[in-house]
Amino acid sequence: MKVLVTGGAGFIGSHLVDRLVEEGHEIIVLDNLFRGSLKALDSYITHKKITFLNRDIRDYEQVKQACKGCELVYHLAAQSNVMGAVEDIRYSFSTNVVGTFNVLLAAKEQGVRRLIFSSSREAYGEAGYLPVDESHPLNSKNSYGAGKAAGEKYCQVFQNSGDLEVVILRLANVYGPRDFNRVIPIFIKNVKQGKELTVFGGQQLIDFIAVPFVVSMMRLAAENKKALFGPVNIGSGRGTTLFELASRIMALSGKNSKINVLPARNAEVVKYTADLKRFKEVFKTEPPLDPLDYLKAML
Ligand SMILES: NC(=O)c1ccc[n+]([C@@H]2O[C@H](COP(=O)([O-])OP(=O)(O)OC[C@H]3O[C@@H](n4cnc5c(N)ncnc54)[C@H](O)[C@@H]3O)[C@@H](O)[C@H]2O)c1
Repeated sequence: MKVLVTGGAGFIGSHLVDRLVEEGHEIIVLDNLFRGSLKALDSYITHKKITFLNRDIRDYEQVKQACKGCELVYHLAAQSNVMGAVEDIRYSFSTNVVGTFNVLLAAKEQGVRRLIFSSSREAYGEAGYLPVDESHPLNSKNSYGAGKAAGEKYCQVFQNSGDLEVVILRLANVYGPRDFNRVIPIFIKNVKQGKELTVFGGQQLIDFIAVPFVVSMMRLAAENKKALFGPVNIGSGRGTTLFELASRIMALSGKNSKINVLPARNAEVVKYTADLKRFKEVFKTEPPLDPLDYLKAML
């Protein structure tokens, strides 16, 4: 199968590419390297296992060419960082909203069978109740969440038109190797170096989920029929505080770091855990019992 992965040089995208290479598919990666890197993909490019296109989803014609002959599109390219999206609201709008529209239109025009969109728990904004199910209103709190909510709306428009199958996966907080500048990689790096850990506010309840599990669900989403009928939460369904996270990392590394609590940041959603009823119905599987179990392997 010929598969396009937008954002395939990024954290989750590169793990998805690993899986697609293992499965022997023909893979096109489109990424403008805004946050991604070719490090993980270098040997695939050298050995012609993938085609890498240094292109931008804000340019419709570039995306249309990339979609040619593809059966499946995984759309992950995005300004994926909440604070980054808040700081550069124009880039996040043009990439996360206009770019998503371009990918949908290009996929439809090129006769792609199915598109899988990486949405986010940030689309919900601050939860009115926990755990959050898919019918919770989308009260996005920041421009990143708003961009994902808008992207989802366009996904529904294309899905309803009947010309393109679209699956919307609302990802919780994904972690694993190759990520950077998010809480788990920052905590691991600082604990290893004996530096202090910064927590903003300290009230957060975060639903962490390891990247291999997310990639497996993305692969199931390529064929699953029930996944077409509305967004699906992907998470562990369990909440972890940043203090629990810090102590797990310290215990696993055998080192201690001081925790420095600073004022909360307005743009950040404080509490989220995913309701996984629909997830279980769709994918007929269970999330890992311990959301932080994969930290051992990472460390
Ligand atoms: N990591 C998480 O916890 C998480 C949670 C929820 C949703 N998501 C979503 O999953 C997807 C992948 O997330 P990630 O953590 O791998 O992020 P990432 O930033 O590592 O990957 C996104 C990739 O998109 C590329 N990109 C950015 N702007 C682009 C543009 N205009 N044109 C082409 N490429 C562009 C970046 O260079 C990067 O390689 C994103 O859509 C993100 O919003 C991630």
